[in-house]
This record gives sequence, C-alpha cells and structure tokens, in this order.
Amino acid sequence: MSEAPALPPFAAIVVAAGKGLRAGQPLPKQFARWRGKAVVRHSVESLLDAGASPLVVVVPENAEDAVEGALAGLSGYEVVTGGDTRQQSVAKGLEAVESADRVLVHDAARPDLPRAVIERVLAALSDSPSAVPVLPITDSLALDEGGVMAGTAPREQLRRVQTPQAFRFDDILAAHRAWTGDPVAGDDAQVLRAAGGTVALVPGDERLAKLTYAEDFVSEQPSIRTGMGFD
Ligand code: CTP
Ligand code: MG
Repeated sequence: MSEAPALPPFAAIVVAAGKGLRAGQPLPKQFARWRGKAVVRHSVESLLDAGASPLVVVVPENAEDAVEGALAGLSGYEVVTGGDTRQQSVAKGLEAVESADRVLVHDAARPDLPRAVIERVLAALSDSPSAVPVLPITDSLALDEGGVMAGTAPREQLRRVQTPQAFRFDDILAAHRAWTGDPVAGDDAQVLRAAGGTVALVPGDERLAKLTYAEDFVSEQPSIRTGMGFD
C-alpha cells in the first residue's frame, strides 16, 4: 500500500460541547458509544493520525469524567470548555490556539472522517481562504406550512454543508471575534462569509453525515427521517 500524501501543517478544533438533545442518549451524544468507541474519539483519532497540531477538543462544563473516558490513552490534544452555542464553542477553541497557518473545524458528531476529505479541504486552501465539503441534494424540496406543501425550491444550486471546514487561521479567528451572534450561525463558513471571506466548495462524503437522532445510534446509519419536527 502506498503512503498517504504528506499534509501541510494544520491545527484542528473538534467541537464536542453540545447537549445532544435530539439524540436522547443518557449522555450527550458525543460521549455515547458508536462503532465500539465514544463518538468524539473517532474524529480525534483521525485528526491526530493526519498530524493535526495543536488539536483542541471543546467540551461541556463539568464533563471531566466523560471526556477522560472517551479519550483515555490518547495524547497530543488539549481540552477547553465550550459555550452556549456552537459558534461560541468554536470561538473558544480558536482562542486556545496560539498561532497556526491553517485550521480545520470539525463537529464531533460526525465521527466517520475520511482522510481524503481532510486532504481535499486542506489542498483547496492554496487557492481560497476557506474550503468546506458539500454534497448535492437529490430529493426535491418543499416549503412546509403547517403540514401542507406551500411551495418548492430549485435544488440544482443548493448543497448540504458538512465539516471539517478549513480556514486560514487568522481570517477565521478575526471573523469569529467580529461575529455579532445574530442570526445564530449554522457553521463557520457562514461566520467567514459575514466577514467578507470567500468559501470554496469541495466534494464531501456521505460517511460524514451528522449523528443527530436516537435512531442514528441504533442503526449506525445516518438518519433516514420520515417524521416531522427536524431542524
Ligand atoms: N456543539 C458545541 N457547542 C454547542 C453546541 C453544539 O460544541 N453549544 C457541537 C456539538 O457537540 C456537535 C456540533 O457542535 O458536535 C454540531 O451540533 P449539533 O449536531 O446540533 O449537536 P448538539 O447541539 O449537541 O445537538 P442538539 O442540537 O440535538 O441538542
Ligand atoms: Mg445543536
């Protein structure tokens, strides 16, 4: 087997400070077991294997035991406490990085992180201040007004946005510092765009689907939702 290509130096933030309310697990979902390990451990291992340094894992307050259990035996990462929103958690992670040229920001809730996606987003940083993995939408789209279809939208130009998202470190740190908090940011690409940055789109991967609902832990497949009330 050939060696994986060398990657440029990069820092990484893994955000694992959410409550995981939709997943309804006894513990926040990033500490639940999935494919034999804690959810958060999967992507921390992948990023350490890829050479991320520093690697900051952002965790909830008062979760020391869960964090130690999930990451036991690993080294080369540091832990900081997150905030009330994902954006605040990312900002706290970035502030913990002293300096870096490039940084990846990744959701702990996306445990299956292919090395090829890390390579793609980092490679795209040579030509763009930021790069995010995306997938096309294959279903048609409906505007839901109280359970009645009130309209549709063309999907050809719409994309599902995943993580890891890659940034030039100084740009994304400045963008988070300037972010007003309103509206709530879905991801860091939105924060960078609000500060005037350009975001390149690269191919994502179905394996990066986010563990969101209880059935994602039962089936170990990305959620196939038929119900309402998703967000
Ligand atoms: N996250 C975080 N800090 C927050 C909120 C979210 O670090 N205040 C992290 C989560 O741990 C997760 C990622 O951001 O890895 C994506 O968020 P999401 O899937 O919405 O997770 P939760 O907010 O934990 O879940 P829910 O919205 O169902 O409560
Ligand atoms: Mg959430």
